[in-house]
Amino acid sequence: MRQLAGLLSVWLLAGTYSFSQNAISYDASQHVWQIHAGEMSYVLGVNDKKALQTIYWGPRLEKGASFPTPKQLPETASFDPGVATTPLEYVGWGGGLPYEPTLKISFPDGNRSLLLEYVDAKVNGDALEITMKDALTPIYVRLFYQAAPQGILARWSRVENRGKEKITVEQAESATWNLAPRSTYELSSLTGRWGAEWQLQTEAMHQGTTILESRRGSTSHQTNPWFAIASRGETTENAGPVWFGELGWSGSWRITVEQTQAQRVRITGGTNPFDFSYPLAAGESLDTPKFYAGYTAKGHGEASRILHRFQREQILPQRPTPRLRPVIFNSWEATEFAVDEQGQIALAEKAAKLGVERMVIDDGWFGKRNNDRAGLGDWNVNPEKFPSGLKPVIDRVHALGMDFGIWVEPEMVNPDSDLYRKHPDWAMNFPGRPRSEARNQLLLNLARKDVRDYVFSFLDKLVSENDIAFLKWDYNRNWSEPGWDVVPLDQQKEIYVKYVENLYSILSDLRKKHPKLEIESCSGGGGRVDLGILQYTDEVWPSDNTDALDRLVIQDGFTHAYSPNLMMAWVTDVPNFLDKRVIPLEFRFLAAMSGSLGIGGNLNKWSPDDMSTGTRLTTFYKQIRPVVQLGELHRLMQPEESETNAVQYITADRSSAVVFAYLHSQHYGRPFPTIRLEGLDPAASYRLTPLDAAKVTGLPVERNGSQLMGEGVQFNLRGDYDATALRLERIR
Ligand code: GLA
Repeated sequence: MRQLAGLLSVWLLAGTYSFSQNAISYDASQHVWQIHAGEMSYVLGVNDKKALQTIYWGPRLEKGASFPTPKQLPETASFDPGVATTPLEYVGWGGGLPYEPTLKISFPDGNRSLLLEYVDAKVNGDALEITMKDALTPIYVRLFYQAAPQGILARWSRVENRGKEKITVEQAESATWNLAPRSTYELSSLTGRWGAEWQLQTEAMHQGTTILESRRGSTSHQTNPWFAIASRGETTENAGPVWFGELGWSGSWRITVEQTQAQRVRITGGTNPFDFSYPLAAGESLDTPKFYAGYTAKGHGEASRILHRFQREQILPQRPTPRLRPVIFNSWEATEFAVDEQGQIALAEKAAKLGVERMVIDDGWFGKRNNDRAGLGDWNVNPEKFPSGLKPVIDRVHALGMDFGIWVEPEMVNPDSDLYRKHPDWAMNFPGRPRSEARNQLLLNLARKDVRDYVFSFLDKLVSENDIAFLKWDYNRNWSEPGWDVVPLDQQKEIYVKYVENLYSILSDLRKKHPKLEIESCSGGGGRVDLGILQYTDEVWPSDNTDALDRLVIQDGFTHAYSPNLMMAWVTDVPNFLDKRVIPLEFRFLAAMSGSLGIGGNLNKWSPDDMSTGTRLTTFYKQIRPVVQLGELHRLMQPEESETNAVQYITADRSSAVVFAYLHSQHYGRPFPTIRLEGLDPAASYRLTPLDAAKVTGLPVERNGSQLMGEGVQFNLRGDYDATALRLERIR
């Protein structure tokens, strides 16, 4: 039954296009495959040199579209051979390729050249698998293509050594995507740092290479593995072409975006080849991460919505119908390391009064963790803080009608910990070299099986012995000395792959054993958000920056790449810890309510007025939550552009919507701009229910959809940090 409901929702959300079972068609006479995914089609074929060539990536093609066998493009000069001028799907380094290879191998005889040729292909519904082989050696590459009805094509590959001799893979990317020549391309990416993640950056493309990457061992705050390429002067939020994609990998990664001399664009991505090599002995293989991409003609807004639907229906552990995120309380900003039984129970009692559904104890509950200098690695409950273990708190939390969650940082160790004293060799390091600490901690080498097993077993024990519904899984530093000295020298750089594989296997095994457990991916804020970790985690912590004004920009950037239901957002106290800004409570709530609402303030200090504002807004949030978390997001007015911003969420069937409007600071008494709504049913009537009637001007109870989209809504926001929300329900 649940499956049936899931299928039904995929079908309903698939929206206006028809999606046939035959997502992939093959024209045997021309050796060309057409892949259809949502509103996108992707066409590739085998050319006259037996190489796999990209033919088309753009709007969905209707029946009747046909393509001749592709031909390798001619050399344009003796300096630009065919391998450089031709858009190749997956290209080995060789033949004078001057651009980024998808695969680079060195052979024991000194050869480093590869010439991948087509062998055969299999189509199975919406999956295509193509086998290529090096012309002279038994090196095979299997290329996988998986179309999803939301409009996403996943590509990844498997490099197989079917020979007798060991080879070394120096670079194995997931895929290369090619765009036709155009002079107006512009590239958007999401950059940032701790406390300031998700800054949208857009630049005109020009001949040359832009590298988006992390060399930090994990996804990083610095750049998220997402890209969007649009057409300057043509693409807006609501119209124009966008080619976009993201990687499913939580280790060091790289996306290389090149504009060739012929103004083609090549996008090659996967694990980062920096400091990488991976030996493949006879019979061994290496799988690359998935590289997902899509296309829309409807601007950046629709590109985001395609990704949001895809994540919810195809990626998240609770796919295709993730359950609504509960309203949480988290202790971090309220008590930091000073957590104890009485204090947490007192906070839980107040949180329950606000309508909170999940109480989460953050850092500080274990080992000798009284500050960030000690205790990581010692995952036993601190007996001074919790003399009878966690049970009394958990029982009280349950009695208050909430479930219970707890913070862990499983991959880390403080040198001042029993774990480190017992297993100093478990810390990632180059033996005999100075090791770099960050936040007084070291990384455990999760690539090691003993470390992997230890991490799984303490987490399993913690969750088995206590009624824990939720783990906030943190990760608070980058890699520094990535040594793995207990394996042979030529395998030591496998650490970049094996670490991440073991991380995924721990998460996966934990979820299998504890099917009700939910997990948040946190890395000092948004340092580990990607489609790899999201297969095992239900939500993420986008940033440690909880200042509501900064957060509006952070959340705007976040939603370009990830769904709002993933986006935990807490209401915290003022002055904000980071920038000391003082923002009224209602504005702080409304900023957090545009994602998954959480509360992180010290409730002991909240006045009766604060408590009643909090209760009123939490109640309102629960009413709009399905629309916010699982609806379609429209960024009506973006926060970087002015002193105002507005977002709208609407269900796929257009029956319910909610609009949030924010005025950051009013200048010159300027009225708040009229907001035209989007995506409504133009012929339907909607009932309008404002959160605060005084903040919407001249609002009738009912209004027609076309009018709301044409004439718009006038919000009456004044002064600094004024905000409100408006609900819409279709009545006929
Ligand atoms: C990281 C997280 C915070 C908090 C602290 C605890 O910085 O991002 O939310 O959990 O660690 O030490």
